[in-house]
Amino acid sequence: MPDRYAVIGHPIAHSQSPLIHSLFAQAAGQDMTYEAIDGGADPDGFERAVAAFRAAGGRGMNVTLPFKLAALAASTQASADARLAGAANALRFLADGRIEAQNFDGVGLVRDITHNLGVPLTGRRVLLLGAGGATRGALLPLARAGAAHIAIANRTAAKAQALAQELAPHLPMGCALHGSGLDALHEQPEFDVVINATSASLSGQAPAVPPSAYAAQALAYDMVYGKGLTPFLRAAQAAGATRVADGVGMLVEQAAEAFAWWRGVRPDTGAVLARLTVPLV
Ligand code: ATR
Repeated sequence: MPDRYAVIGHPIAHSQSPLIHSLFAQAAGQDMTYEAIDGGADPDGFERAVAAFRAAGGRGMNVTLPFKLAALAASTQASADARLAGAANALRFLADGRIEAQNFDGVGLVRDITHNLGVPLTGRRVLLLGAGGATRGALLPLARAGAAHIAIANRTAAKAQALAQELAPHLPMGCALHGSGLDALHEQPEFDVVINATSASLSGQAPAVPPSAYAAQALAYDMVYGKGLTPFLRAAQAAGATRVADGVGMLVEQAAEAFAWWRGVRPDTGAVLARLTVPLV
Protein backbone atom coordinates (compact mmCIF):
# COMPACT_ATOMS: atom_id res chain seq x y z
CA MET A 1 0.00 0.00 0.00
CA PRO A 2 1.44 3.41 -0.92
CA ASP A 3 1.67 6.00 1.90
CA ARG A 4 -1.13 8.57 1.81
CA TYR A 5 -0.73 12.35 1.92
CA ALA A 6 -3.18 15.16 1.16
CA VAL A 7 -3.78 18.88 1.04
CA ILE A 8 -6.80 20.24 2.91
CA GLY A 9 -8.47 23.61 2.37
CA HIS A 10 -11.77 25.22 1.43
CA PRO A 11 -12.09 25.70 -1.48
CA ILE A 12 -9.42 23.28 -2.69
CA ALA A 13 -10.19 22.57 -6.36
CA HIS A 14 -7.54 24.99 -7.66
CA SER A 15 -4.70 23.77 -5.43
CA GLN A 16 -1.50 22.94 -7.31
CA SER A 17 -0.23 20.78 -4.43
CA PRO A 18 -1.46 17.40 -5.78
CA LEU A 19 0.33 18.06 -9.08
CA ILE A 20 3.51 19.29 -7.38
CA HIS A 21 3.73 16.38 -4.94
CA SER A 22 2.93 13.72 -7.53
CA LEU A 23 5.71 15.10 -9.75
CA PHE A 24 8.10 15.08 -6.76
CA ALA A 25 7.08 11.49 -5.87
CA GLN A 26 7.59 10.31 -9.43
CA ALA A 27 11.00 11.95 -9.75
CA ALA A 28 12.16 10.75 -6.31
CA GLY A 29 10.75 7.22 -6.77
CA GLN A 30 8.53 7.46 -3.68
CA ASP A 31 5.58 5.07 -3.30
CA MET A 32 2.90 7.50 -2.14
CA THR A 33 -0.41 9.07 -3.09
CA TYR A 34 -1.41 12.72 -2.63
CA GLU A 35 -5.02 13.87 -2.77
CA ALA A 36 -7.02 17.07 -2.28
CA ILE A 37 -9.58 17.20 0.55
CA ASP A 38 -12.21 19.90 0.91
CA GLY A 39 -12.59 20.61 4.65
CA GLY A 40 -15.94 22.33 4.03
CA ALA A 41 -17.39 25.51 5.48
CA ASP A 42 -18.63 24.03 8.74
CA PRO A 43 -16.32 24.95 11.69
CA ASP A 44 -15.83 21.31 12.75
CA GLY A 45 -15.16 20.14 9.19
CA PHE A 46 -11.40 20.47 9.45
CA GLU A 47 -10.99 18.34 12.57
CA ARG A 48 -13.39 15.71 11.27
CA ALA A 49 -11.58 15.48 7.94
CA VAL A 50 -8.16 15.23 9.64
CA ALA A 51 -9.41 12.50 12.00
CA ALA A 52 -10.90 10.52 9.11
CA PHE A 53 -7.72 10.84 7.05
CA ARG A 54 -5.55 9.69 9.98
CA ALA A 55 -7.90 6.78 10.71
CA ALA A 56 -7.53 5.73 7.06
CA GLY A 57 -3.74 5.61 7.45
CA GLY A 58 -2.84 9.13 6.25
CA ARG A 59 0.77 10.09 7.07
CA GLY A 60 0.77 13.84 6.55
CA MET A 61 -1.11 16.84 5.21
CA ASN A 62 -0.51 20.23 3.73
CA VAL A 63 -2.93 22.81 5.03
CA THR A 64 -4.16 25.86 3.19
CA LEU A 65 -6.78 28.56 3.72
CA PRO A 66 -8.79 28.82 5.89
CA PHE A 67 -7.37 26.07 8.13
CA LYS A 68 -3.79 27.14 8.89
CA LEU A 69 -4.66 28.38 12.38
CA ALA A 70 -6.80 25.32 13.13
CA ALA A 71 -3.93 23.09 11.99
CA LEU A 72 -1.59 24.64 14.53
CA ALA A 73 -4.23 24.26 17.25
CA ALA A 74 -4.75 20.58 16.35
CA SER A 75 -1.05 19.75 16.65
CA THR A 76 0.71 18.33 19.71
CA GLN A 77 4.14 19.78 18.75
CA ALA A 78 4.90 22.79 16.58
CA SER A 79 8.10 24.25 15.13
CA ALA A 80 9.26 27.75 16.08
CA ASP A 81 8.31 28.99 12.60
CA ALA A 82 4.76 27.66 13.00
CA ARG A 83 4.42 29.09 16.51
CA LEU A 84 5.64 32.54 15.53
CA ALA A 85 3.55 32.51 12.38
CA GLY A 86 0.56 31.48 14.51
CA ALA A 87 -0.27 29.06 11.69
CA ALA A 88 0.80 25.72 10.23
CA ASN A 89 0.90 24.65 6.59
CA ALA A 90 2.15 21.08 7.06
CA LEU A 91 1.27 18.29 9.49
CA ARG A 92 2.92 14.95 10.15
CA PHE A 93 0.98 12.16 11.85
CA LEU A 94 3.08 9.87 14.05
CA ALA A 95 2.16 6.26 14.84
CA ASP A 96 1.84 7.07 18.57
CA GLY A 97 -0.90 9.64 17.91
CA ARG A 98 1.21 12.79 18.06
CA ILE A 99 0.66 15.45 15.40
CA GLU A 100 3.65 17.61 14.44
CA ALA A 101 3.11 21.01 12.81
CA GLN A 102 5.41 23.06 10.62
CA ASN A 103 5.14 26.25 8.61
CA PHE A 104 7.33 26.10 5.51
CA ASP A 105 6.03 29.23 3.76
CA GLY A 106 8.85 31.43 5.06
CA VAL A 107 11.67 28.98 4.35
CA GLY A 108 10.19 28.41 0.89
CA LEU A 109 10.26 32.16 0.27
CA VAL A 110 13.87 32.46 1.45
CA ARG A 111 14.99 29.49 -0.61
CA ASP A 112 13.32 30.93 -3.73
CA ILE A 113 14.96 34.34 -3.25
CA THR A 114 18.45 33.12 -2.39
CA HIS A 115 18.69 29.90 -4.39
CA ASN A 116 16.39 30.17 -7.41
CA LEU A 117 16.65 33.93 -7.94
CA GLY A 118 20.23 34.16 -6.69
CA VAL A 119 19.61 37.23 -4.53
CA PRO A 120 21.56 37.10 -1.26
CA LEU A 121 19.78 38.28 1.89
CA THR A 122 22.80 38.57 4.16
CA GLY A 123 23.20 42.14 5.36
CA ARG A 124 20.31 43.35 3.17
CA ARG A 125 17.45 45.74 3.89
CA VAL A 126 14.13 43.97 3.33
CA LEU A 127 10.69 45.59 3.13
CA LEU A 128 7.66 43.40 3.88
CA LEU A 129 4.36 44.91 2.77
CA GLY A 130 1.31 43.90 4.82
CA ALA A 131 0.84 42.82 8.42
CA GLY A 132 -1.26 39.67 8.10
CA GLY A 133 -0.43 35.97 8.25
CA ALA A 134 1.82 36.03 5.18
CA THR A 135 4.11 38.66 6.73
CA ARG A 136 4.09 36.91 10.10
CA GLY A 137 5.21 33.63 8.46
CA ALA A 138 8.04 35.27 6.49
CA LEU A 139 9.67 37.31 9.26
CA LEU A 140 11.71 34.78 11.22
CA PRO A 141 13.05 32.90 8.15
CA LEU A 142 14.10 36.22 6.52
CA ALA A 143 15.89 37.24 9.70
CA ARG A 144 17.57 33.83 10.00
CA ALA A 145 18.76 34.20 6.40
CA GLY A 146 20.82 37.17 7.55
CA ALA A 147 18.73 40.24 6.67
CA ALA A 148 20.18 43.21 8.56
CA HIS A 149 16.99 45.26 8.66
CA ILE A 150 13.39 44.23 8.10
CA ALA A 151 10.70 46.88 7.78
CA ILE A 152 7.03 45.92 7.95
CA ALA A 153 4.84 48.54 6.27
CA ASN A 154 1.09 48.24 6.27
CA ARG A 155 -1.89 50.30 5.09
CA THR A 156 -3.05 50.25 8.72
CA ALA A 157 0.09 51.44 10.53
CA ALA A 158 -0.94 50.21 13.99
CA LYS A 159 -1.02 46.58 12.81
CA ALA A 160 2.54 46.79 11.48
CA GLN A 161 3.76 48.48 14.65
CA ALA A 162 2.10 45.87 16.88
CA LEU A 163 3.50 42.98 14.83
CA ALA A 164 7.04 44.42 14.92
CA GLN A 165 6.80 44.91 18.68
CA GLU A 166 5.52 41.38 19.21
CA LEU A 167 8.10 39.61 17.05
CA ALA A 168 11.24 41.73 17.63
CA PRO A 169 12.28 39.76 20.75
CA HIS A 170 12.26 36.52 18.72
CA LEU A 171 14.58 37.66 15.92
CA PRO A 172 18.28 36.81 15.92
CA MET A 173 20.74 39.46 17.12
CA GLY A 174 21.86 41.75 14.33
CA CYS A 175 18.47 41.97 12.63
CA ALA A 176 16.59 45.22 13.26
CA LEU A 177 12.80 45.23 12.88
CA HIS A 178 10.64 48.30 12.28
CA GLY A 179 6.88 48.62 11.78
CA SER A 180 5.15 51.59 10.16
CA GLY A 181 2.41 52.71 7.84
CA LEU A 182 2.94 52.66 4.06
CA ASP A 183 2.73 56.44 4.25
CA ALA A 184 5.91 56.60 6.36
CA LEU A 185 8.04 54.75 3.78
CA HIS A 186 9.23 57.94 2.09
CA GLU A 187 11.11 58.79 5.30
CA GLN A 188 13.09 55.53 5.25
CA PRO A 189 16.30 54.58 3.37
CA GLU A 190 15.85 52.42 0.26
CA PHE A 191 15.42 48.63 0.32
CA ASP A 192 17.24 45.84 -1.54
CA VAL A 193 14.29 43.44 -1.49
CA VAL A 194 10.61 44.49 -1.42
CA ILE A 195 8.09 41.71 -0.79
CA ASN A 196 4.36 42.11 -1.30
CA ALA A 197 2.71 40.01 1.41
CA THR A 198 -0.62 41.88 1.22
CA SER A 199 -3.69 40.39 -0.42
CA ALA A 200 -3.94 43.45 -2.72
CA SER A 201 -2.87 41.57 -5.89
CA LEU A 202 -5.81 39.18 -5.51
CA SER A 203 -8.15 42.10 -6.17
CA GLY A 204 -6.00 43.71 -8.87
CA GLN A 205 -4.70 46.42 -6.54
CA ALA A 206 -1.26 47.40 -5.28
CA PRO A 207 -0.10 48.74 -1.93
CA ALA A 208 1.04 52.35 -2.26
CA VAL A 209 4.86 52.12 -2.18
CA PRO A 210 6.85 55.27 -2.98
CA PRO A 211 9.45 54.82 -5.78
CA SER A 212 12.13 55.95 -3.31
CA ALA A 213 11.73 52.62 -1.45
CA TYR A 214 13.56 50.74 -4.22
CA ALA A 215 17.37 50.57 -4.27
CA ALA A 216 19.11 50.30 -7.65
CA GLN A 217 19.09 46.55 -8.57
CA ALA A 218 16.25 45.94 -6.08
CA LEU A 219 14.23 42.72 -6.23
CA ALA A 220 10.44 43.15 -6.11
CA TYR A 221 8.69 39.92 -5.08
CA ASP A 222 4.94 39.31 -5.11
CA MET A 223 3.80 36.32 -3.04
CA VAL A 224 0.85 35.66 -5.37
CA TYR A 225 1.52 33.41 -8.36
CA GLY A 226 0.17 32.72 -11.81
CA LYS A 227 -1.12 36.26 -12.33
CA GLY A 228 1.67 37.57 -14.54
CA LEU A 229 2.87 41.11 -13.86
CA THR A 230 0.65 42.27 -11.01
CA PRO A 231 0.00 46.00 -10.42
CA PHE A 232 2.58 45.81 -7.59
CA LEU A 233 5.27 44.33 -9.88
CA ARG A 234 4.43 46.83 -12.63
CA ALA A 235 4.76 49.74 -10.23
CA ALA A 236 8.03 48.31 -8.90
CA GLN A 237 9.46 48.14 -12.42
CA ALA A 238 8.38 51.70 -13.09
CA ALA A 239 10.12 52.71 -9.84
CA GLY A 240 13.37 51.16 -11.05
CA ALA A 241 13.35 47.64 -9.57
CA THR A 242 15.48 45.65 -12.01
CA ARG A 243 14.30 42.22 -10.90
CA VAL A 244 10.71 41.07 -10.40
CA ALA A 245 9.35 37.69 -9.34
CA ASP A 246 6.02 36.18 -8.33
CA GLY A 247 5.44 33.54 -5.65
CA VAL A 248 5.50 30.39 -7.79
CA GLY A 249 8.96 29.53 -6.50
CA MET A 250 7.82 30.02 -2.91
CA LEU A 251 4.92 27.62 -3.56
CA VAL A 252 7.18 24.94 -5.05
CA GLU A 253 9.94 25.34 -2.45
CA GLN A 254 7.58 25.15 0.54
CA ALA A 255 6.17 21.97 -1.02
CA ALA A 256 9.70 20.55 -1.36
CA GLU A 257 10.37 21.29 2.33
CA ALA A 258 7.22 19.41 3.36
CA PHE A 259 8.07 16.51 1.03
CA ALA A 260 11.57 16.25 2.55
CA TRP A 261 10.13 16.41 6.07
CA TRP A 262 7.72 13.56 5.32
CA ARG A 263 9.90 11.37 3.12
CA GLY A 264 13.49 12.14 4.11
CA VAL A 265 14.38 13.02 0.50
CA ARG A 266 14.54 16.59 -0.83
CA PRO A 267 13.16 16.60 -4.37
CA ASP A 268 14.71 18.59 -7.18
CA THR A 269 12.40 21.57 -7.77
CA GLY A 270 13.70 22.81 -11.15
CA ALA A 271 11.43 20.81 -13.47
CA VAL A 272 8.28 21.45 -11.40
CA LEU A 273 9.08 25.16 -11.19
CA ALA A 274 9.55 25.36 -14.95
CA ARG A 275 6.21 23.61 -15.48
CA LEU A 276 4.23 25.94 -13.19
CA THR A 277 5.86 29.23 -14.09
CA VAL A 278 3.62 31.72 -15.88
CA PRO A 279 5.64 34.39 -17.75
CA LEU A 280 5.67 37.79 -16.08
CA VAL A 281 4.23 39.90 -18.88
P1 ATR B 1 -3.00 37.15 5.08
O1 ATR B 1 -3.22 36.29 6.28
O2 ATR B 1 -3.10 36.43 3.77
O3 ATR B 1 -1.74 37.97 5.16
P2 ATR B 1 -4.82 39.17 6.06
O4 ATR B 1 -4.49 38.81 7.44
O5 ATR B 1 -6.23 39.36 5.67
O6 ATR B 1 -4.27 38.12 5.02
O7 ATR B 1 -3.98 40.48 5.69
C1 ATR B 1 -4.11 41.09 4.47
C2 ATR B 1 -3.06 42.20 4.40
O8 ATR B 1 -3.14 42.82 3.12
C3 ATR B 1 -3.26 43.29 5.42
O9 ATR B 1 -1.98 43.75 5.83
C4 ATR B 1 -4.01 44.37 4.61
O10 ATR B 1 -3.82 45.68 5.10
P3 ATR B 1 -4.74 46.25 6.33
O11 ATR B 1 -4.21 45.63 7.56
O12 ATR B 1 -4.55 47.71 6.29
O13 ATR B 1 -6.15 45.82 6.00
C5 ATR B 1 -3.33 44.22 3.29
N1 ATR B 1 -4.10 44.73 2.14
C6 ATR B 1 -5.17 44.16 1.55
N2 ATR B 1 -5.58 44.89 0.49
C7 ATR B 1 -4.72 45.95 0.40
C8 ATR B 1 -4.58 47.06 -0.51
N3 ATR B 1 -5.45 47.24 -1.52
N4 ATR B 1 -3.58 47.94 -0.30
C9 ATR B 1 -2.73 47.78 0.74
N5 ATR B 1 -2.79 46.74 1.61
C10 ATR B 1 -3.77 45.84 1.45
